[in-house]
Amino acid sequence: MKITISGWGIRVPGMMRVPPELTGQPDRLRWNARYAGGFEASFHPHPLAERALSLRLPEGPVLDLASGPSGSALLAAAAGRRVTVVDVSEVALGLLREEAVRRGLSELITFAHADLAAWRPPPGRYALVLCTGYWDRTVFPAAADAVAADGLIGWEAFTADARRARPALCADWVLGPGEPAALLPAGFTVLARRELPDDQRGTRRRLLARRSAIRQPDHGAQHPSHGPLTGRGR
Ligand SMILES: C[S@@+](CC[C@H](N)C(=O)[O-])C[C@H]1O[C@@H](n2cnc3c(N)ncnc32)[C@H](O)[C@@H]1O
Repeated sequence: MKITISGWGIRVPGMMRVPPELTGQPDRLRWNARYAGGFEASFHPHPLAERALSLRLPEGPVLDLASGPSGSALLAAAAGRRVTVVDVSEVALGLLREEAVRRGLSELITFAHADLAAWRPPPGRYALVLCTGYWDRTVFPAAADAVAADGLIGWEAFTADARRARPALCADWVLGPGEPAALLPAGFTVLARRELPDDQRGTRRRLLARRSAIRQPDHGAQHPSHGPLTGRGR
């Protein structure tokens, strides 16, 4: 794919026009530059997506937040799911779209070019909400609320410990103690929580949780996480 970098913008053939509110968005500029600079997308699905898609799921689409050129979205679409991917980088979305077209899956995927600080999903809609390699604690409550009854949420991000390996990681981009499980609203059951220590790349934490099959009337309450422990993508 031919990617042209000019001024603020990076033009990717076939991609949507950049909305005015995103032209100077710093995450967009940084990630576009990274994806345009000789990045080779593997399109491997994330292990969390593989696990979630192997479990019982209700009918409904999949939402992949901060998707990048996501192999997880391709896996879900190949399983016949409609998928919405959201990313601030149109270069990432362009790479994914090109691969989805190549695999005959593009009709199943909706590409949302948006800043997650502002974009919000409809509540109770998605059989699976997935987010790997990104953390923003203001996004998590809406993401959890977007999970359909009996659906799953899967999240993986850097922990505060990762800042030892990656001092440039901002404190707001890493999971605090017990997060994200501690931020789950009532009606979720934690299926798996795992700490993934990595001295080189930084420690990450992975969560998989299921929403009750019976929708809870109050989505506002936050409950502490259950049991012992077994990165915004920056
Ligand atoms: C580390 S990558 C993770 C990509 C993919 N989820 C994965 O696991 O490989 C982080 C992604 O977050 C996206 N991102 C960063 N800030 C964002 C924002 N404010 N809104 C939407 N996407 C954002 C980047 O463009 C990038 O694709």
